[in-house]
Amino acid sequence: MSQTQHPRILLGVSGSIAAYKAAELIRRLRERGAEVQVVMTAHAQAFITPLSLQAVAGQPVRCELFDRAAEAGMGHIELARWADHLLIAPASANLIARLAHGMADDLLTTLVLASAAPLAIAPAMNHQMWSHPAVQENINRLLARGVHLLGPESGDQACGESGAGRLLEPQRIVEQLLGSEHRPLAGRRVLVTAGPTREALDPVRFLGNRSSGKMGYAVAQALTAAGAQVMVVSGPTALTPPAVERVIPVETALEMHAAVMEHIDHCDIFVAAAAVADYRPQAPSPEKIKKHHHEFQLRMVRNPDILAEVAARHPAPFTLGFAAETEALEAHAREKLQAKGLDMIAANWVGGAQGGFDRDENALLLLWRGGQRELPLMSKRQAAREIVHTITERYAAFTARQNFGSPPG
Ligand code: PMT
Repeated sequence: MSQTQHPRILLGVSGSIAAYKAAELIRRLRERGAEVQVVMTAHAQAFITPLSLQAVAGQPVRCELFDRAAEAGMGHIELARWADHLLIAPASANLIARLAHGMADDLLTTLVLASAAPLAIAPAMNHQMWSHPAVQENINRLLARGVHLLGPESGDQACGESGAGRLLEPQRIVEQLLGSEHRPLAGRRVLVTAGPTREALDPVRFLGNRSSGKMGYAVAQALTAAGAQVMVVSGPTALTPPAVERVIPVETALEMHAAVMEHIDHCDIFVAAAAVADYRPQAPSPEKIKKHHHEFQLRMVRNPDILAEVAARHPAPFTLGFAAETEALEAHAREKLQAKGLDMIAANWVGGAQGGFDRDENALLLLWRGGQRELPLMSKRQAAREIVHTITERYAAFTARQNFGSPPG
């Protein structure tokens, strides 16, 4: 099926005890870079709440055909056209019957009729129900129409009996839907910093910067898609958290430093995409600062350099820093690569038309000792995939050096 990097998947969830597995399925689909919109039938909501699935999908879940608010956003015909794949998991016997008979009596069945996208169903039901001639007849009708059947599996069932009718495991649904892929960073642990930091001036004000977190989150997502186990330490952002193993929210550079140092052990790769404040006010005011004076002076002290500290560890993980520059991009970035002892640095212009802070696109220059690669202006997601591709190559050279002591390359 589709090999596109960000397949759009409309996931239908119908009423079955296996509906709770939809949460893991959504997570696995998002790890593969898929965009997922979820539609639940009325019966599905008896098993799992729309709110739970919304939390993992990072998108509102739709349940009603005649929902004025939802229709005002993306109408159901638009939603049907949006999808590259329709996936129904779990598909109950009732839903299979309604599909087989071309019914359009709720949002999900209507979308199936309104969409030209391929339909895959993963049935889940009691084994007697699955083997019932009525269900098998309906399944055969759907197969004859080109519907892809994913499972079901045989085994112990929720009712205490055993037989064919179990929902295929979410990971296998994803593999059958999107194909198994090359996961070059499988088994690697990666820690990513992302977003800005905020340094308090007083209880209501802070010094911050323009980082949105988009670049860091995109790299975290691309690393996950490459098979890595990813943890993100993130400054405050307005983004939906990336679908990674864990996201640790922090606010200040000191908090980011503490979170990184707590979790860096056993990490193979460290990616510092966060825009960390180099300085913080020495003594933030415990009370809101009043405007009694025409001017006041702020004394700043240095924050720890998280990236440099990680790179100086023994043994150190493979370290990728970012360099945000407004002039002499390559020279400054090479200086940081050298001074901080990094394995690789991704340099980007900030403040100009070339991307950088709080935009959806970025242009980057990837540098390492003895090499470089230029990424022209492209979406941050695409740039993240290219960065991860280069990390994979450089990481292979890094581990070879560690294992065999070969010269830096
Ligand atoms: O978040 P977006 O809006 O998508 O924008 C993306 C970005 C522009 C923030 C990102 O691409 C980027 O360039 N991040 C690094 C920004 C930065 O702080 O650059 P720097 O040149 O000041 O720092 C160099 C490196 O040291 C960075 O990897 C930084 O994370 C790290 N650092 C800096 C200071 C510090 N105290 N600790 C650090 O770890």
